[in-house]
This record gives sequence, C-alpha cells and structure tokens, in this order.
Amino acid sequence: MKNVTCIADLRDLARRKVPRAFFDYADSGSYNEETLRANRADLEGIKLRQRVLVDVSARSLATTIVGQKVAAPLVLAPIGLCGMQRGNGEILAAQAAYEAGIPFTLSTMSICSIEDVAEATRKPFWFQLYVIRDRGFSKEILSRAVAAKCSALVLTVDLQVLGQRHRDIKNGMTVPPQIRLKNIIDVATKPAWAWSILTGKRKTFGNLAGHVKGMDNVNELAKWVGSQFDPALSWKDVEWIKKIWPGKLILKGILDADDAKTAVKLGADAIVVSNHGGRQLDGAPSSISALPKVADALGSGTEVLFDGGIRTGSDMMRALALGARACLVGRPYIYGLGAGGRPGVAKAIDILKSELSVTMALTGTNNIKDIDGRVIVGGKESKKPKKKAARKRR
Ligand code: GLV
Repeated sequence: MKNVTCIADLRDLARRKVPRAFFDYADSGSYNEETLRANRADLEGIKLRQRVLVDVSARSLATTIVGQKVAAPLVLAPIGLCGMQRGNGEILAAQAAYEAGIPFTLSTMSICSIEDVAEATRKPFWFQLYVIRDRGFSKEILSRAVAAKCSALVLTVDLQVLGQRHRDIKNGMTVPPQIRLKNIIDVATKPAWAWSILTGKRKTFGNLAGHVKGMDNVNELAKWVGSQFDPALSWKDVEWIKKIWPGKLILKGILDADDAKTAVKLGADAIVVSNHGGRQLDGAPSSISALPKVADALGSGTEVLFDGGIRTGSDMMRALALGARACLVGRPYIYGLGAGGRPGVAKAIDILKSELSVTMALTGTNNIKDIDGRVIVGGKESKKPKKKAARKRR
C-alpha cells in the first residue's frame, strides 16, 4: 500500500480486486445518481478559511460520540454485504476500527453475524437495525445485540422501500453471486478475493441464516430479505424500539428539520443526517446542504452525526464546522477493505485522520470542540455551545 496516498487510490485498487457486482453494489447510487453526485459537489463547494501563525502544536482529534470516548470524530458506517468485498470483511473492519480507536457499525445485512464479530473483537461495536415486517425477528436480533454488548443501536429510517440501483440489476447482484459466464470470468480473474471468500466464515447473511424459520437455503433467504422491507414502518416503531433497546439509540437517515425534531421527541440520543449515500431518494438534497438546518433545529442535548460523500479530512472538517459531532464513512473503508483487507481499512482510517489533522493545523484549530462555522469562508461562530463545553461551565 506504499503508493496509496488517498481514498481515490483505494477505490482504484478495490475496483481491480473485487468482482464487479460487489464493487458496483457499494459504489452505486440510486437511479440517475443525482444525489450521489450532489453529496460530493456540495462538499467541494464549501471553502475553508486559511489561518496562519496560530500555535497548532498540541492538536488532538479526540472527542466523544454518544458518551463514548473516541480517537477521532469518525465512525465506520453500517454496510450491507461488507463481507462480500473480502471474506470475513466485517471482522477485519471491526478490528481495524478498534485499533484506530473509533466505532464500527455492523449492518443487519452483514455476512459475518453479530456473534462472529463479538467473538473476534475485544471492544463493543455498534449494531444497525432495519425494522422489517417480521417484528419477532427484529426483537430477537435486538436481544442478540444486547447479548453481544453492542454499545449503540443505529436504526435506519430511510429504507422502507429500496431505491433502485441500476448497476445491481444489470450485474445480477445476488448473494451468493449468480452463476453467469460473465461472473465466472470476473471471479476467476480475482483469485485473492475468491480465496478470502472461500476461506471466510460465511457466504450468506450471517445474522439471518439459522434464525429465520423455514429459510434453510441461500436463495430462499435472499427472497425473504427482499420481501421484508416494510413500507408500513412509522414513528410508532421508533417508540417500540426505544422501549425494548436499553442502550443509546441513533436514528440514521434524516434530512429534514421536522423529522429531526420528532426523532428527538421520541428519545433519540443522536441522529445521522444522511441520504443513505445517495442510494435512496434520488433528487434529495446533498447531506451537507441539509446539515446546518437540521443542526440548528435541535437543542444541544442531541448529537448530530453526518454521512454522505466524505472522502477527505477536509470534508470531515466541513461537516464538523456545519454542526456535525462526527462523521460516518461507508465507501472509503469499503474501498480499503476491497483493496487490502484489514490493513486497507486501517489505511483508509489513517488517511482521513491525518488529513483532518493537517486541515485543523492550516485552519488554526487545536481541538475538535473548537471547530465551528469560523473555519469556513463566510461562516459564523456557532451560537450553541457544544455539549462538552456547556457541561464544563455548569
Ligand atoms: C442498504 O442499506 C443499501 O444501501 O444497499
């Protein structure tokens, strides 16, 4: 990985090493990919304010997220089928995250199960839940997450129906991969990937296999997954989850200030301003353009997290300046995983952390809690004291 200097390098490598169906699955946005592109374009449109001759020799990226101490304002986002980018992908990513002192979030639709990841890591991870039609299953999987000592629950609220990703249909993206000549050739030219999958713990949805009655083979299971997204999901389900989940609750997939207020009323400890990486409502605004309105609408008691388009440490700085407490990243670490397994994920995290550190230096910033609109050209000082600072003054 010596010549890898940025996330774009990891993406190039992953594209060469991971079969097309799985690379495209992670890389795509929905429909015309307008929101996917807007996430990047709007971040790049925000200009940072260069400051000079400030002593920045004592910089620290350390902060807290939902009460948890972290080495940087960074979280690995939940990614479905992560373990298809590389065998045991969820375990490798969780291990790299903990080595770097940041949280890893395991998706309901992961390949390694909650128990596999818990067994392979020493520190608690976050768990992401889709509330599906089978509420009994949701309840059971939550008790498995409690048993595995998951330290926060990330409830995805923007996927009642699936936004279509054209490339998935064209590639015949299924788990396990469809046996088509084109796919066989693709896999045959990626031997390291094939070996990692063959020797990996599992080849299907680890959280579901053996837990869904009557679904004994992979094809049945894949069909079951497709039928389980629930268009009837509502705020009542959030109330229900709040009652049965004992830990921190984070609602992911909010773009609207009114929705954010409702989330807070129902007891969310944090929300993630997100458009699902441009994979759901195409035509929705970029996450970064939605962030300031949502952050302004909330009191300082609820943490605002952010995802959508982060590829550099300066992107992280932009999101922190506009009201985010921390950033979730999906594709950057998935590219790292496809490019080089656990060291690839570690590289992705390291790139983002060191770029953020340099960006802090060049904007005259020493601490994460000091980052606000002042680091942006034309930006303003935050009116709201950040949670930690407010507590200190009491
Ligand atoms: C699932 O969360 C997906 O975006 O594919």
